[in-house]
Amino acid sequence: MPKNSSGHLIPGTVHTDPLPPSAIARPEYVGKKGPAKHTGGNVYTADEVARIRESGRIAADSLDAVASIIRPGTTTQEINALVYDFLVARGAYPSTLTYRGYPKSSCTSVNEVICHGIPDETVLEEGDIVNVDVTAYVDGMHGDLNRTFPVGTISDEVSALIDRTREALRRGIKAAMPGRRVNIIGRAIEAYAARFGYGVVQDFTGHGVGRSFHSGLIIPHFDSDRFTDMIEPGMVFTIEPMLTLGTHEWDMWDDGWTATTKDKSLTAQFEHTIHITERGAEILTLSSSEIDSGR
Ligand code: MF3
Ligand code: CO
Ligand code: CO
Repeated sequence: MPKNSSGHLIPGTVHTDPLPPSAIARPEYVGKKGPAKHTGGNVYTADEVARIRESGRIAADSLDAVASIIRPGTTTQEINALVYDFLVARGAYPSTLTYRGYPKSSCTSVNEVICHGIPDETVLEEGDIVNVDVTAYVDGMHGDLNRTFPVGTISDEVSALIDRTREALRRGIKAAMPGRRVNIIGRAIEAYAARFGYGVVQDFTGHGVGRSFHSGLIIPHFDSDRFTDMIEPGMVFTIEPMLTLGTHEWDMWDDGWTATTKDKSLTAQFEHTIHITERGAEILTLSSSEIDSGR
C-alpha cells in the first residue's frame, strides 16, 4: 500500500509469511481453503475463558510492543514482522496467517483502509493513522483485538475520531448485558457515533471467537432488528466498531481483502474480545500492563 499522487493508498508487494515452526500448534484451517464449520456454540467454561484470556493477553502485549515502533518511517511490514516474532516467541500462532488465504500475521489498515489491510512496503508518514489487528492462537483458543495508532502528530479532527471510536467500543462493551439481544450493542455504538455525524461501517462486524476464529455469531455495530441472538452468560465474542469521517460505504481492492471507504474518508477501529458474565462483560484482550495497572 504505497500512496499515489493524491495521497491515497495503492496496493504494494505482498510477501507471504512463513509458517511458524511446527512445534507451535496450528489452527485446523492451516493448509486448507477455509475453516471447518464451527460447532458447539458461543458459550465457554471458566477454564476455556482463562485460555482465551491468555491468547488475548499475548495478542495485546504484541500491540503494546507495536506502539513503541509506530513513527514516521516505519513500514507496515515492519509492524507485521514484530507481531510475528512476538507471537512465535511466546508459542502462539498468528491466527490470520493462511486464514482463508490471508498471507500475513496481522492486518495493518492505514488512513482510508477500513480493515484487513495487508502489511507491505507502505511507509507510515506524519499525520497518518494505522490500525493494527492481531489474533493469537494458543492452547486451542483464539484471542482477537485491534487498536488504531496516530503516526507522529495528527489533526484534531482525526485525533477526535480515534478517541471517539475507542469510546464507541467502550459503550458497546457496557451495553453487552446478558438477557439483551446483540443488537443492543449496535444501537449503543451507532447512537454515540451519530452525535458526531460519523459513518458506521455495517458490513464488517464483531463475531463469536474462541475455539474458532469466527464462529458464525454476528455482532452488529449499527442498529438493526435483524440481529436477534440473545446475549448469555459464558458467551465470548468480539466488538470491533469501524467509524468514518464520511460514508460507511466501501470498496474492495483486487486483493480480495483490503476494504477502503468509498469516499476515501479516514476511518478508525478498536476491537476487544469479551466474555459475558451475570454482571456484564469482561475484557479478555487486556495486555499485561493493562492488567497490572488494574484496568
Ligand atoms: N482479526 C480480524 C477480525 O477482527 C480478522 C482478520 S481475518 C484476515 O475479525 F484474514 F483478514 F486476517
Ligand atoms: Co475480530
Ligand atoms: Co481482529
